[in-house]
Amino acid sequence: SNRTMLMLPGDGIGPEVMGEVRRVIDWMDKRRHVSFDVKEDLVGGSAFDKHGTPLADKTMQDALDCGVVLLGAVGGPKWDNLPFDKKPERGLLRLRKEMQLFANLRPAKCFDALVEASSLKPEIVRGLDIMIVRELTGGVYFGEPRGISDIGNGERRGVNTQVYTTSEIRRVAAVAFELAQKRGNKVTSLEKANVMESGVLWREEVTKLHQEKYKDVQLEHMYADNGAMQLVRAPKQFDVMVTDNLFGDILSDAAAMLTGSLGMLPSASLGAADPATGRRMALFEPVHGSAPDISGKGIANPLATIQSFSMALRYAYDLGADADLIDQAAENVLKSGVRTADLGGGSAKVGTTGMGDALLKEL
Ligand code: NAI
Ligand code: MG
Repeated sequence: SNRTMLMLPGDGIGPEVMGEVRRVIDWMDKRRHVSFDVKEDLVGGSAFDKHGTPLADKTMQDALDCGVVLLGAVGGPKWDNLPFDKKPERGLLRLRKEMQLFANLRPAKCFDALVEASSLKPEIVRGLDIMIVRELTGGVYFGEPRGISDIGNGERRGVNTQVYTTSEIRRVAAVAFELAQKRGNKVTSLEKANVMESGVLWREEVTKLHQEKYKDVQLEHMYADNGAMQLVRAPKQFDVMVTDNLFGDILSDAAAMLTGSLGMLPSASLGAADPATGRRMALFEPVHGSAPDISGKGIANPLATIQSFSMALRYAYDLGADADLIDQAAENVLKSGVRTADLGGGSAKVGTTGMGDALLKEL
């Protein structure tokens, strides 16, 4: 098939949850007659153990050739004391960098059956379905100059620089507008144009792009600090939120907690579209890490990774109808009371494969 995918289960619970995705891929093949050409390889600590590096060059090349990566999680106590460039997360950072994944998509969707798991009141989160688009390759995490220097008299100075260019802003805003067109048709752009030059430029460029190409989408600007407040006060006012790397890091973590468990949260990172095919480089992964505290016990929740696969269907392969089936099956399974340990409550406690069984039965 021409649907190529590089599967990188990684460390800790990564291989456990990825096993359940493999069953969904089999279902796609047998029941939906949609097949994938899946390559599998190592990343993170497990890659370091075998190759002495958290991402082998060959694996990097396969990622670029496949164009689509599905990753489990990396890291764990065994590798915590490695030097900086050998650390498991360097493998993930290299993938993001070389695939030029500039748009990080973090959905915050509240499943009806899990409304009670949210830290907010049920009426505030019931039916919540927002998408945060975070710029991932620019801004203050990468800007130059940066560093710590002695400035005399025993004083030191730490410097980071927030930098954005026109094209960096426009390409991530375009992703947000295009997502909104397929969702609630509204984009909220967040910055601090009141106190930051990069924020002024951000607001101007998003406004221009909107005028040029996306007038049909409702656009709203909001200061990021107000956005944080609104996310907790009345999150359902949002559809797609687009913001820079730093604000997006913070706002997406806050939004995640509106919906309950870490074991339920998928993410996608998108790169530039190939001008010939229109296909974007993309990496899909759960938000959670390798969960060393529960790894090997068979109790990890596979739904974040399964939903990351369904995001791949939607955004990388144009298989939205199949993604809908999988998302709906997950919703139904939760409705029926099936729960992994992290979700609490429920009438039927299951482990990782038990959740997979329930999902496949529903499918
Ligand atoms: P974590 O997300 O691995 O775990 C936090 C807590 O949530 C733990 O109690 C864990 O048991 C629970 N949890 C996470 N995923 C779960 C799931 N699917 N089902 C049930 N419970 C789940 O974050 P933590 O503990 O801070 O980091 C552990 C390791 O993972 C570290 O080495 C860290 O560097 C790495 N990490 C990797 C990430 C990645 O691969 N993208 C992201 C975050 C952390
Ligand atoms: Mg974060």
